[in-house]
Amino acid sequence: MVRATLAAKDLREKMPDPHALSFLYIPSDVLIALDNRSYRFALQPFHHLVRMAHILSISAFFGAIVLLDLRLTGLRPAVQLKALSELAMPVIYWMFGIGVVSGLMLFFYDPVHVASHAYFSLKIILIVLGMFNAALFNRRGFVSALNAPDAMPRHARIIGAVSLMLWIGVMICATLNVEAAPKVLLR
Ligand code: HEM
Repeated sequence: MVRATLAAKDLREKMPDPHALSFLYIPSDVLIALDNRSYRFALQPFHHLVRMAHILSISAFFGAIVLLDLRLTGLRPAVQLKALSELAMPVIYWMFGIGVVSGLMLFFYDPVHVASHAYFSLKIILIVLGMFNAALFNRRGFVSALNAPDAMPRHARIIGAVSLMLWIGVMICATLNVEAAPKVLLR
């Protein structure tokens, strides 16, 4: 017990250097409590496959949502929004679902390591905002956008542009979590 407490304290002291996003870090005590070695050992042989599933599903999700968002911002008015959304929506829902499940599996594999990445919490916040933005549009504006005679209504353009920015932000955070900008350049 004493050793575990010391280890937690030691880890907390070694945790991230302070920077602009430090206040978003999940407390290390919480992360240590979430760490489950049995789960980790069970998942170890399949971890690369879960990561593959995460990246493949997220790629499909991102591609589909970018097309839909671009159409909502008013691009290519000749493309029928109804036909495009019938194609894109199932891909968006299913691939996002697989992305979230595989993402959680990756997180619980090593919570301390994953959440020590500088942009992990920001990525999750942007995902929640992206979902909120989509839910708002589904409730309020999607039907009127579908029935718009020619140009997209203003609210659809705004929601499409905000959605694009949020999901691009999530992708940027995800890649920076894996490889941050170098602090020292070797010459
Ligand atoms: C609850 C939701 C999610 C969780 C818990 C999650 C978690 C993770 C984890 C643990 C990794 C491994 C790399 C790392 O340690 O950060 C990862 C990679 C990645 N995630 Fe997610 N993720 C989620 C949703 C998403 C979404 C919605 C997107 C994009 C729209 C996304 C895009 C990516 C990408 C592109 C990578 C690969 C980064 C690279 O290898 O360069 N994730 N995610």
